[in-house]
Amino acid sequence: MNRQPIGLFDSGIGGTSIWKEITRLLPNENTIFLADSKNAPYGEKSEEQILQLSIKNTELLLKNQCKIIVVACNTATTNSISYLRANYDIPFIGIEPAIKPAALQSKSKKVGVLATKGTLSSSLFHSTSENHAAGIQILEQEGTGLVPLIEQGEIQNHKTRELLLKYLNPMLEEGIDHLVLGCTHYPYLIPVLRQIIPENIKIIDSGEAVARQTKAILNAYGIENHAEENVEHLFYTNANVAILQSFLVDVTSNTKIEYLDF
Ligand code: DGL
Repeated sequence: MNRQPIGLFDSGIGGTSIWKEITRLLPNENTIFLADSKNAPYGEKSEEQILQLSIKNTELLLKNQCKIIVVACNTATTNSISYLRANYDIPFIGIEPAIKPAALQSKSKKVGVLATKGTLSSSLFHSTSENHAAGIQILEQEGTGLVPLIEQGEIQNHKTRELLLKYLNPMLEEGIDHLVLGCTHYPYLIPVLRQIIPENIKIIDSGEAVARQTKAILNAYGIENHAEENVEHLFYTNANVAILQSFLVDVTSNTKIEYLDF
């Protein structure tokens, strides 16, 4: 039994989609979330820059006594998780595009992946695709420009729609039957995506799987929190508190959202 918080970080508000899954599955756990929106998008940065930002976020979460860190960002995971695991003493949970379940379920044998440039160019993404999608055609698409729009809360608007149509039309024409959302910001686009892609195309993200994995690792290390009282959630953003808050409207008690220059 361990009351220390679960730490999470992302290049911004996207990782809150993971935080929601984790707190749903693990309602007794305290959490600290870092939204590094000042440095978003990570997806356009070099591997070294992404690594340095991931180290900075990790050090801050460790200062806050986190017992485990969830890298709630595909771009940070694919570019830095091996370094983090090798250099820090606590368990790390990463998130990668959910290619495996999509490949297993695909009937057309064509799967689309929408992710950042940083994720799609990483060697971890390529080895995962090779290991889990034999015989499947993976159609990759960089989602350049989508993260800044989501960070501004611009979701149901013309520009977001136009970009999605431009990015998805080629893979739709190719006959994909699954679309993998390989960035934790993108689940917030699902309402728009559902309006523009055919119903029979299944949209897959990794949120639930990451929550299940977090639970399994807490259990394996014997560090779950069984106490039901006084659960607290703390969010730090180094940009706009109001925008972060707008992504957490359905979140009620025990939640503090604060500005911090990190
Ligand atoms: N939310 C992030 C991801 O899952 C990063 C987006 C970005 O900052 O480019 O990849």
